[in-house]
Amino acid sequence: MATELRPPTLPAPTLPIRTERLMLRLVVPEDRGAVGAYCADPEVTRYLPFGVLDDAGLDSRMERMVGAQAPSLVGEMLSLAVEHDGTMIGDLMLRLSAAHSPESAPSIAELGWVFDPSVAGKGFATEAARALVDLAFTHYPLHRLMAQLDPLNLTSARLCERLGMRHEAHTREDYANRDGGWSDTAVYGLLRREWAGA
Ligand SMILES: CC(C)(COP(=O)(O)OP(=O)(O)OC[C@H]1O[C@@H](n2cnc3c(N)ncnc32)[C@H](O)[C@@H]1OP(=O)(O)O)[C@@H](O)C(=O)NCCC(=O)NCCS
Repeated sequence: MATELRPPTLPAPTLPIRTERLMLRLVVPEDRGAVGAYCADPEVTRYLPFGVLDDAGLDSRMERMVGAQAPSLVGEMLSLAVEHDGTMIGDLMLRLSAAHSPESAPSIAELGWVFDPSVAGKGFATEAARALVDLAFTHYPLHRLMAQLDPLNLTSARLCERLGMRHEAHTREDYANRDGGWSDTAVYGLLRREWAGA
């Protein structure tokens, strides 16, 4: 009888992670207030797949984030809360997005970030995302990390560049935006060997 091959189960990462100024930890239900506050700002959600969150939208985002603790399969996510001086100032996401074959572990993952605008311009998002990039390549068997964003999202594009990601592609009108139109996508990528050599 043929044995069904399955991808290996990946362990949960060891958290929290401490950087010079920040702590990265799992998201907990008590983070609802902080997430709700920065996701209530239309400037923050402008380029996100969701608009300003109402109560139900916030509940479903919190449920997804709190449940995203130990990704192992393609499509699964790690969500992290970023704290500065005991206050949650933003969140990070790592989504396992592709594998060589159905039986191998994911080898490509996508990064995402949302930060409270009250702490913008201090390098916190860069410091936190750098720690997530290091975690991604040390903990997961990844070959490539990528980020996809609206090319008009300049703060996010600059963040990708500070992380050493390369601007690899600009695809035209491939994303159905929330205004009923089409947006372009900028693709940024970082290969394991580039991260290791940096
Ligand atoms: C994308 C986002 C996280 C970037 O935030 P940010 O404040 O620009 O990023 P940082 O916290 O890393 O701060 C970087 C800025 O601080 C400056 N800075 C100050 N001290 C710094 C330090 N110690 N280290 C690095 N940068 C520092 C940098 O020069 C940079 O300024 P610049 O962009 O004018 O060059 C934020 O704009 C955001 O949450 N946007 C909304 C959500 C969103 O669109 N997410 C992406 C969807 S694809």
